[in-house]
Amino acid sequence: MERVRKPVIAGNWKMHMTCADAKQYMEVFLPLIKQTPDDRHMVIAPPFTALSTMSERVSGTSVELSSQNVHWEDKGAYTAEISPMMLTEFNAKYSIVGHSEPRKYFSESDEQINRRARSAQAHDLIPIVCVGETDEQRERGEAERVIRRQIEQGLEGTDPEKLVVAYEPIWAIGTGKTCESSEANRICGLIRKWVGSSNLIIQYGGSVKPANIDELMAMSDIDGVLVGGASLQPDSFARIVNYQNY
Ligand code: 13P
Repeated sequence: MERVRKPVIAGNWKMHMTCADAKQYMEVFLPLIKQTPDDRHMVIAPPFTALSTMSERVSGTSVELSSQNVHWEDKGAYTAEISPMMLTEFNAKYSIVGHSEPRKYFSESDEQINRRARSAQAHDLIPIVCVGETDEQRERGEAERVIRRQIEQGLEGTDPEKLVVAYEPIWAIGTGKTCESSEANRICGLIRKWVGSSNLIIQYGGSVKPANIDELMAMSDIDGVLVGGASLQPDSFARIVNYQNY
């Protein structure tokens, strides 16, 4: 299938992997992606503490790095936060913002997510802005309204050409319940329409694994995936990165 948008396959390691773990992982992973075609981006989002090690390991390979967050100020009294320059220093190219976990555990608001996304773009980091509805919201028929609000508020003032949106239905994260690929594709198509950019990269995330990657990547509006659990094993993430084109 001829694609207009270059897919972005990203592994979100969340709060896993010490530097020693990351080194071991890369020893197994890198040989498995030697033949991977360059028609796709391969991205890993390690915890901040492993960025330095990972930056050495990916040097000279086509693996790119993402952070799992970024602050809107360049520096200042913001304990526990991370500035864009602290990330670009280690060659991070992307920053995940608005993931459902900080939204849930730290009450991240769409306004804060928007500030993070804009700050990333201002420092040449591509924000991966996550959106998605809960189980209850879907059951009440509110999924589209919730996602549209997250898109409108979270992306306000951002450049859609330097952006990735990840549609991650919360009920599919870490549950083994993948969203039907046709439904994920429908929502990704709606997001593209709301943002109004045919070049926008839209990922699906939520229980992506070797068994469902080929089907997901065959969908017309899914331009990549954001992978949690299945990115923690180098062989399973390599299989995902090496998805088959139909
Ligand atoms: P799982 O792939 O473990 O469901 O996690 C998805 C996710 O949250 C990626 O950001």
